[in-house]
Parts: sequence; C-alpha cells; structure tokens
Amino acid sequence: MQKPVRKAVFPVGGLGTRFLPATKSMPKEMLPVVDKPLIQYAVEEARESGIEEFIFVTGRGKSAIEDHFDHSYELNDMLQQRGKSNALKLVTDMLMRPGSFAYIRQQEPLGLGHAVWCARKLVGDEPFAVILADDLVQSQRPCLRQLVDVYEETGGNVVAVMDVPREHTDRYGVLRTGEDDGRKAEVLGLVEKPKPAEAPSTLSVIGRYVLLPEVFDHLERQEKGAGGEIQLTDAMARMIGRHPFHGLRFEGHRFDCGDKVGFLEATLSYALDRDDIAPAFREALTRYR
Ligand code: G1P
Repeated sequence: MQKPVRKAVFPVGGLGTRFLPATKSMPKEMLPVVDKPLIQYAVEEARESGIEEFIFVTGRGKSAIEDHFDHSYELNDMLQQRGKSNALKLVTDMLMRPGSFAYIRQQEPLGLGHAVWCARKLVGDEPFAVILADDLVQSQRPCLRQLVDVYEETGGNVVAVMDVPREHTDRYGVLRTGEDDGRKAEVLGLVEKPKPAEAPSTLSVIGRYVLLPEVFDHLERQEKGAGGEIQLTDAMARMIGRHPFHGLRFEGHRFDCGDKVGFLEATLSYALDRDDIAPAFREALTRYR
C-alpha cells in the first residue's frame, strides 16, 4: 500500500502581471469566478481529494489569501444579527480545522520549482500534491482525486495531462510517453516549454501533481532551466526511471485562468452551471451575439 497523500502545496507567489491593474494590490488567486476566488476552488478540490494539510507558498502582497481562510468575527457576527443564515453558512463552511493551513514565503520569484522547494520542511518525507490555482478544472470527480486514485494504484509521481495545440507547447511541460492505455501514459521524458518543432509530443502537464518527496533532493540543486527559472519539470524529469511516473488524461475541462480569455470562459461555464444564475444569465447572453 502507498503512503497516503495528505498534504498539498499551493504556490501563490506569482505577480499576476497579466491581470493588471486588477492585481495591483490584490493577489491574482483572489480573482473570483462567479463569486468564489480561484484559490478557494483549489482548496476545495484538495479537501474533496482527501487533503488534510494546506501549505501556501506566498510572496509579498498576498495577505488577502490568509485573511480569506481565517475566521472573520465581525462579519459572522453581523450576518448572524441580520439573519443572513445562507451567507453565514457559506463563510463558515469554508473554514478548515485549526492548524491545517500553513503559510511560507518565497523570498524571491525564482520559479515554480523553487516555490515548491520552499515547502520542503512543511511537507517532510511523504508524498504530496501540488495545485496551481490558475488552472481551474471543472469535473465530476475532483481532478486531484483522479490523480490520487492513480497514485494509489501505481505509486510514484502522477501528473495531470492534456493534449494542447502544437503551437502552444512552449507554454507547458511536455511529455515523451511510453506505454499508453489512452487514459494513463507512462512518462519517459519531460521537457519544460519546448518550441513546437522540438516538442516530443503535444501531451502537456497542467497544474495538478502528486509527487514523491524525493523531488526535493533534485530541487535542492537549484539548477536553472527554461526562462532562467528553477523548474519543477526538470526536477521531476530526474526521477524518471527511478520511480513509477504517469501522466493522467483527467476527466473534466481545464480553464487557463492565467489568461484573460480562459478566465472569461471559466466564468461563463461556471455561471451556466449554477441553477440560481443560469436562466437569467442565458437570457442576458442573447443580447451579445
Ligand atoms: C507551469 C509549469 C508547466 C506546466 C504549467 C501548467 O508553467 O512550469 O510545466 O505545464 O504550469 O499550467 P507556468 O504556467 O507557471 O509558466
């Protein structure tokens, strides 16, 4: 039996320059899709996937995230007094067990690999998940849960993958695959942001990972890769052949919320999925043809 995946790391140190001026004084992870911040979708997905400890790797200007997941005494009191029980339930249901959230700062933005490495002491010697909140996945079974299912079967590293248009391979970590049953593919190689002509395939990693703690040994080298950054992809690539390693074509739809159009599409999709909003929203949309 595999060691359980109990901890998740959320790298939230990024500057969010693509969403300026909205992100000038607000973390990009707090941008709401309908009425919930991106980071809350990520945390809820983790919780529904069995995660018990939530580790945020933050940076300057990210305190709104800490406040968001904290008890807000004044707000709760006011909602209680005004009899707003639905709203009160919303803000209390999202709270986790005291002590299950930890925050650590990445002092310099040196790359995703470096951000994950900053969490090494909090993760310790056990498998863990990484969730990038920019990648929002709408699915029946939570995307991370699907990865954990595969991990329980195979052990080792598991990453969520999808086929992307060849002209986009330079935005992703891209796989070279071995045995492939159409759902789960063995990873034989991994390259960070290859040019379309050089990409080993179009099967690309999106922001969901289950990783063995050995990844920290490789991150420890602090080697710079694509874009001069310390890449998680490079550390994972060093583990190929030493541990089982699979890419999972997850069930669900992934929205790239780091991109304006992707973000707007997520808003549309989540709004149309909500019984309380969809009828009026559909009606409103008919005016924008
Ligand atoms: C990161 C990873 C990349 C992965 C992508 C998924 O890139 O480095 O391997 O494919 O997330 O969204 P970023 O989007 O931070 O440039």
